Amino acid sequence: TDRYCVFGHPIGHSKSPSIHAAFAEQTGEAIEYTAIEAPLDDFCGAWQRFVAAGGRGANVTVPFKEDAFRCCDVLSTRARRAGAVNTLVLSGNGKSSDFKVHGDTTDGVGLVRDLVRHGVALEGARILVLGAGGAVRGVLEPLLAQAPQSLQVANRTAAKAEALAHDFSDLGAIIGSGFEDVQGPFDLVINGTSASLSGELPPLPDTLFSPSAGAYDMMYGAEPTVFLRWAAARGAGTMDGLGMLVEQAAESFFQWRGKRSDTAPVLERLRRSL
Ligand code: ATR
Repeated sequence: TDRYCVFGHPIGHSKSPSIHAAFAEQTGEAIEYTAIEAPLDDFCGAWQRFVAAGGRGANVTVPFKEDAFRCCDVLSTRARRAGAVNTLVLSGNGKSSDFKVHGDTTDGVGLVRDLVRHGVALEGARILVLGAGGAVRGVLEPLLAQAPQSLQVANRTAAKAEALAHDFSDLGAIIGSGFEDVQGPFDLVINGTSASLSGELPPLPDTLFSPSAGAYDMMYGAEPTVFLRWAAARGAGTMDGLGMLVEQAAESFFQWRGKRSDTAPVLERLRRSL
C-alpha cells in the first residue's frame, strides 16, 4: 500500500483524508492517506521522514505551502510562479536514493474546474479577485489561461495587488489596485481574502455585479460567508470553496495515481457533513 498524507498545522479538522479515501475506493487504488501535523519550524524534515517511512506523495496546507516550495527538486511552472506548493510527488523508486521531489500547485486548476462545473463562462469575462495573499497567487495563472476579458486584483494593501499584477502581466490583461479603485460591473467576483474568517467584508461598491454575475468565496462552511450573503443580496449567484477543495484534491490524486475521480458524489457527501 502506497502512503500519502496531508501536512498542516493545525491539521485535526482536515477533510482531505476522507476525500482521498473516497477517490481511492472509486478508482480501486490501494493507498493509505493520513493527516500529519508538521512542526512549524521544520516542514522539510517532516516530509523527509515521511518519505523515509515509505511516503510517495503529499498535500500541503496552511501554513506550509511556501516551505514545501523550498524542499522540491523540480517545480511545475505554475508552482514556481505561485511561489507555493500544495502537492508533492515522488518520482522514481522512493526506497533508493535516485528519486526526485516534484512540487506543483493544484489550487488554481481546482478553482477553474469548480467554476466550470457551476457553469461559469470564464472566456471573455470581466473578473475581479479580492485579496493578494498566497491563496490568490496560486490561482491567477489558471484563471488567466481561460482568456478573460480583464482581471483586476484588488487588495486592502494596494501595493501588494499591484506587485502581483506585475508578476503575472505577461500572461494576460491583469491590473492591481486597492479596494477604492474597484468599480465594476464584473461578471465574476472571487473572494480570496481571509476576511471571511473574521466575518469581515472588504469595502465594495453596490455597483459591483453585472446582471448575471457570479460571486465565489474560496472559503466554505455550513453557513454562507459574509461575502456571499452580501453578494446574494445584490443579485449575484453564489458559490463557496468546497468544490475547489474537492477538485484540487482530485488533481493531486491524478498526479499520484494517474486516475481521474468522479468528484460530484464526493462533494455531495462532504456538503451534507458540514
Ligand atoms: P492566504 O494564504 O489565505 O492568502 P495571506 O497570504 O496572509 O493568507 O493573505 C491574506 C489576504 O487577505 C491578504 O490579501 C489580506 O490583505 P492585506 O494584504 O492588506 O493584509 C487579506 N485580508 C485579511 N484580512 C482582511 C480584512 N479584514 N479585510 C480585507 N482583506 C483582508
